[in-house]
Amino acid sequence: MFRDFANVWTIVGLARDLVKGKPQPLRVAGQRIVFFRDAEGKPVALVDICPHRGVALSLGSVKDGVIQCPFHGWRFDGAGKNLGVPWNPDAKCDTLGATALPAREGGGLLWLYTGFDPDGEPHPSSSLGERIRLFAQSVTWRAHWTRVMENMLDQPHLPFVHKRTIGRGLIPLVDKRMDVICEEVDYGLRVSNKIDGEKRPGLLDYRYPNAMELHIDPPGKILRLFAVCQPLDEDTTKLTIYTLRDFARAPIFDAVFGWLNRRIAEEDRAIVESSLPPSAPPPEEERSVRTDAPTLAFRRLYRQRLLGTNVVEREI
Ligand code: FES
Ligand SMILES: [Fe+2]
Repeated sequence: MFRDFANVWTIVGLARDLVKGKPQPLRVAGQRIVFFRDAEGKPVALVDICPHRGVALSLGSVKDGVIQCPFHGWRFDGAGKNLGVPWNPDAKCDTLGATALPAREGGGLLWLYTGFDPDGEPHPSSSLGERIRLFAQSVTWRAHWTRVMENMLDQPHLPFVHKRTIGRGLIPLVDKRMDVICEEVDYGLRVSNKIDGEKRPGLLDYRYPNAMELHIDPPGKILRLFAVCQPLDEDTTKLTIYTLRDFARAPIFDAVFGWLNRRIAEEDRAIVESSLPPSAPPPEEERSVRTDAPTLAFRRLYRQRLLGTNVVEREI
């Protein structure tokens, strides 16, 4: 289960989109999952495969926090416990449960743990809070999630791929020297950069395993882009960009932020989808330079923690 993406907390959507009484199907690393709210309103997640004949529980219904399979009507609570088998009052319900996975709600987001026994709680960004308007938009790319994640951490591509949008101002500077400062922190990496020794705005956090937070705070305000690369399966990734802001909080302004995010993501799409090999290879299989430090640091964490392989360190 969750091939190469096991035992991590991952963001899977906005908490407000998970409404009571409605199953929400999703896919993470090849695994079908169904989310719903239990009797207390807490989000819960089950593997979206009925233990009886394997159909999708998400095609069924949720009533009073209990999901009912659409095929023969078996009922399961949020812990996967079987609460009843129609026509079989003598069924041994204890042995007929569904598979539950840890789920959480925090800072307006929904989280799933890709395993059974989480070692700790999810680490939401400290900027998530009551006063923040969260807005999400998703696109699906034909690419392995590691290539999408690397693109989110990469700044030297801005004046090339985004020459008409966020990279335009960097075009006259590309013959100068960029220094990328990439520090390991407890949640992943913190990345900033200098051009010819001068610090540039725009701090970037990599949040292990699959999220990037870009700080673009105007003076005295909070404005962040939070990009989550959710592996759907081996060759498709759902990229969700969450805009977090503590100003212009009326939902009507979502469209303004959404329009720019969509345009920028579309500029990246064809580039990322063309990458070969499809998933991020061991560092020695591609040529790299100094300004690739965040990509190489990400690969090191990915290979060590998710693939469980050792990484050959090379000077660049
Ligand atoms: S397949 Fe789910 S109850 Fe039969
Ligand atoms: Fe980009």
